[in-house]
Amino acid sequence: MRTDTPQAIYLKDYTPPAFLIETVDLDVAIETGHATVTAALACHRNPAAADPSAALVLTGEELKLETIRLDGRLLGQGEYALCDDRLLIHAELPESFTLTTVSTINPDGNTQLSGLYRSKDGYFTQCEAEGFRRITWFLDRPDVMAKYTVTIHADKAQFPVLLGNGNPVGAGDEEGGRHWAKWEDPFRKPSYLFAMVAAKLDMLEDWFVTKSGRKVRCAVYVEPGKLDQCGHAMAALKKSMKWDEDVFGLEMDLDHYMIVAVGDFNMGAMENKGLNIFNTKYVLARPDTATDIDFQNIDRVVAHEYFHNWTGNRVTCRDWFQLSLKEGLTVFRDQQFGMDMHSAGVTRIQEVRTLRTAQFPEDAGPMAHPIRPASYAEINNFYSATVYEKGAEVIRMIHTLIGKDAFRKGMDLYFARHDGQAVTCEDFVAAMQDASGLDLTQFKRWYNQAGTPKLVVRGAYDAATKRFTLDVEQLYPATAYEKRLEAEGKPVARGAYHLPLVLGLLDADGRELPLRLAGETSAAGTQRVLSVTEDRQSFVFEDIAAAPVPSLLRGFSAPVVLDYPYTAAELTHLMAHDSDAFCRWEAGQRLATDILTAGIAAYQAGDGDSLAWIPTTYADAIRALLGSAFAPGGDPALVAEALALPSEVVLIEATDGTVDPDAIHAARLALRRHLARELKGPLAAAYHELKVDAPYSPEAQQAGARALRNACLGYLAEIDDAESRALVMTQFDTADNMTDTMAALAAIAQFELAERDDALARFLDKWKDEALVVDKWLMVQSTARAADTGQRVRALLQHPAFDIKNPNKVYALIRAFCAANPKHFHAADGSGYAFAADAILQLDAMNPQVASRIARAFDRWRKFDTHRQSLARVQLARIQSQNGLSRDVAEVVGKALD
Ligand code: ARG
Ligand code: ZN
Repeated sequence: MRTDTPQAIYLKDYTPPAFLIETVDLDVAIETGHATVTAALACHRNPAAADPSAALVLTGEELKLETIRLDGRLLGQGEYALCDDRLLIHAELPESFTLTTVSTINPDGNTQLSGLYRSKDGYFTQCEAEGFRRITWFLDRPDVMAKYTVTIHADKAQFPVLLGNGNPVGAGDEEGGRHWAKWEDPFRKPSYLFAMVAAKLDMLEDWFVTKSGRKVRCAVYVEPGKLDQCGHAMAALKKSMKWDEDVFGLEMDLDHYMIVAVGDFNMGAMENKGLNIFNTKYVLARPDTATDIDFQNIDRVVAHEYFHNWTGNRVTCRDWFQLSLKEGLTVFRDQQFGMDMHSAGVTRIQEVRTLRTAQFPEDAGPMAHPIRPASYAEINNFYSATVYEKGAEVIRMIHTLIGKDAFRKGMDLYFARHDGQAVTCEDFVAAMQDASGLDLTQFKRWYNQAGTPKLVVRGAYDAATKRFTLDVEQLYPATAYEKRLEAEGKPVARGAYHLPLVLGLLDADGRELPLRLAGETSAAGTQRVLSVTEDRQSFVFEDIAAAPVPSLLRGFSAPVVLDYPYTAAELTHLMAHDSDAFCRWEAGQRLATDILTAGIAAYQAGDGDSLAWIPTTYADAIRALLGSAFAPGGDPALVAEALALPSEVVLIEATDGTVDPDAIHAARLALRRHLARELKGPLAAAYHELKVDAPYSPEAQQAGARALRNACLGYLAEIDDAESRALVMTQFDTADNMTDTMAALAAIAQFELAERDDALARFLDKWKDEALVVDKWLMVQSTARAADTGQRVRALLQHPAFDIKNPNKVYALIRAFCAANPKHFHAADGSGYAFAADAILQLDAMNPQVASRIARAFDRWRKFDTHRQSLARVQLARIQSQNGLSRDVAEVVGKALD
C-alpha cells in the first residue's frame, strides 16, 4: 500500500479550545513493566470558544484507559467513546467539573522517546510538542495552560530521585520498598512544559542569588559517577542567569532550577519549567572527554533552555505554527550570550556557517517553509533550521533595524502585555513596533514567505560628481512551499522584504570612508544601516574621492545570498582591511568559492589535476592571513575560521545547475593540498608557536590557539609524508585534552593508513565506557573521506559500540554520514542512498522523529545528475511504499517526491 503525503493542518483553521483546564493533579505510579497514571483535570467551558456546546474531546496516544470519572462518578459505557487517539465525553457536562482518568502506559516499550520513557538509569519525559498525550488524556495544545501537581511513586532503591516541575511539597516511604514525592508548580503552563523524572542520579548543587535577592537552588543531575563532568554546565547556568538579568532585566522566578542529563534523547534539550531535561551531550564535559566546541555548545544550550524560562514559558505559543515565537527569539538570545561570552566575530561566523549548511538547503528544497509555516503535517518536522536559525536571523534584523535600546523596550513591552499568555508572532512584532515607532508591517513578510532571497547589488562610481551609487535588487522566487500551497488553493501573497543592509566603504588604503547619503547635510559615521524595502532601490553616497570597495552585509545583517561582482583584488583587499570580522571572513570564503568553482569545472573537463585553475597569488593571500594571527591584535580563532575552505555541503548549495559531488570533492581537496605544499614552512612554524602550555581551559583565547593550531595540523596532514604523519601521531599520543586528540584522530581517519586501525582501536579501548566519546569515535569514521568509508559505516552498524536505539549514536554514525559526507552519501553506485533508506525504514518502526531527521538527507536529490536522481528516486519510493510509515517520514518523503 502506498502512503501519500499525510494530511496537512492549517494555521488559518485555528480555533480556541472548547474547554480550559485550571488544574491538573497527576499521580504516576511506576511499576515493573508499566506505569499507572491517574489524572484529575479541573475543567470548565471556554467562554471564548467558537461553539458554546462543543463536546469535550481529549487526546491520548498509546494509553490504556482503565476508568473515567466525572466529579467522582464512574462513567459507564455510552457516556464516553474511544476513537483513534480521541476520548469523547458524551455525558452531560456542567459549567465546571473534574474529570479523572486512570490509564496504564508502557514506558519501557516507549522507543519513540516521546512521553514517559525508560533510559538506562530511570524514567524521563519529553512532552514537546505532543508527548503529554502519551502520558494521559488531555487537551494537549499550548493554549491550554494549567497549574500542575504531580505525585510520583517508584521503587526506592532503583529510583531514589523523584523530580517534578516547581517545588517539592512532600515525600515519604511506601510499603514494598517504594517511595513517593509530590511536586507543585506555582506557574500555569502548557502541557508541553510538563516533566518528571524517577531515576538513580548523582547531583551537583549550587546557589544563585537573583538581583532582587531570591536564593535559587541550582542542581545538575547526572548518571552516577559523572559528577566530575557537570561543573561546566553549572557554571554556564549561573552565567546565563546573570546575563539575562543584566541584558534583559529578566530574573529567575522559581526556588529550584534543575537540569537532568539523559543519554537517550531525541533532540538537544528541553526547557520544562524548573526541570530542564538535557541530552548528556550538552551537560557532560571534562577536558579529556570534551572538545572546545563541546564546551561552547554546552554554554549555548544551557543558556538557551534557561532563556526559555521567559521567552517560551512565561510567554508561550498560542499554537505550534508560532513555534518560532519562542525558538527564533531564544536562539537569538543565546547567540547574543555567546557573542558576549566568547569572541563576537567568531561566534557570528559560526552562526552563518550553520545557516548556510543547514538552513539555506532547507529553504531551497522540498521541505521549504517560512519561519511561521501556514501548514504542516507533523509538527516534529518543523523543529527546523528555518524555525530556529532563520527565526533568530529575523529577530536579529528587528534588533538591527530598531537598535539595541528600542529592542530592549520592545522586550519589556512584550512581557508587560503578555506575561502568562499564549500568543502569536504578531503579538511579538507589535510590541517591537510600538516600542520603536518603526512600522513593521512589511517586515512581517519574513514570517510568511519561504526561501532565501537573493540581493543583487551593483556599485557605480562617478569621478566627475564624486558619487558612489549602489543599486540593490531583491529576488525572491516562489519555493516548493508556495507552489504547494498554490496547488492546494491556498496561495500565499509575496512581495519585497524589509531588511537591513549594513555597510561601509573602504578606500584604496583600506581606510573606512565617512558616509554621507544624498540629501544629508553631513557625513555620519563610517558604517550605515540601510533599510531595503523595494524590489529595486538605489543608494547614493556623496563626497567619495575615488572608487571605493564596498563592505556589504556587515555582520551578515540579513539572511540573504549576496550577489556582488567582486574582483579577486577587491576580495583580497577586504580580507586584509575590513573592520568587520564577518566581512573579512566572507571575502576569503568568496575568493575560495570563486577559485573552487573554476576548479570544479576543470575537474569536470578532465583537467583538474593540472591545478592551472589556482591563481598563483592565492597561496600568498593565505600566507598573509596566517601571518596576521601573530601580528599585534591578531586573533588566531578568526584566522582558523578563515583557513577553512567552504565545506562540500556549502559548495553544493552554491552550485547553479547540476551538482557534481566528485568534482567538488576533488577540487576542494586539491586546493587544500596545494596550500599545504605551498605553505608547509609557515604552517609548521605556526603549529609549533601556537602550542598551549598552560593547563587546559575551554576559554576563548586558549580555544582559539588550539583551533588555529589544529587547522595547521589538518593542512600539514594533507602532505602525507613521514614528517606530517609523525606530527599527527605524536599529537594523538601525547595530547592531554580531547580537542587535540580528536584533531589528530580526524586527520588519521581521513587516510587509509596502517596507523588508522590501530589508533581507532586504542581510542575505543580507552573510552569505551564514555558514551559521548564513543559517539566521536563513530563520527570521525562516518565523516572520513577514505575510500572505504561506506563499507566501514555499514560494518559499524553491527559493532557492539553502536546502538540503533540511541539517537546520539544514530546521529553520529548514520546522520553524519548522510548529511556531512556528500562524497560517500552521493556515491555514484547508489550505495549511500540504499544505506540511508535501509536505516530510515529500520528506525521508523522505533523512533519516527529520528528516522525523519535522517530522511532529510534526500532533500536535495533533484540537484544531482539524472543517474543519481534515478537511484535516489528508487530509494524514496521504497520508503514511501512501506506499510504503516510514520507521519513524520511520510511527510518528508512525500514532499521530496512531489
Ligand atoms: N524546545 C526545545 C528546545 O528548543 C526543543 C524540543 C524539541 N522537541 C521535539 N520533540 N521536537 O530546546
Ligand atoms: Zn528552544
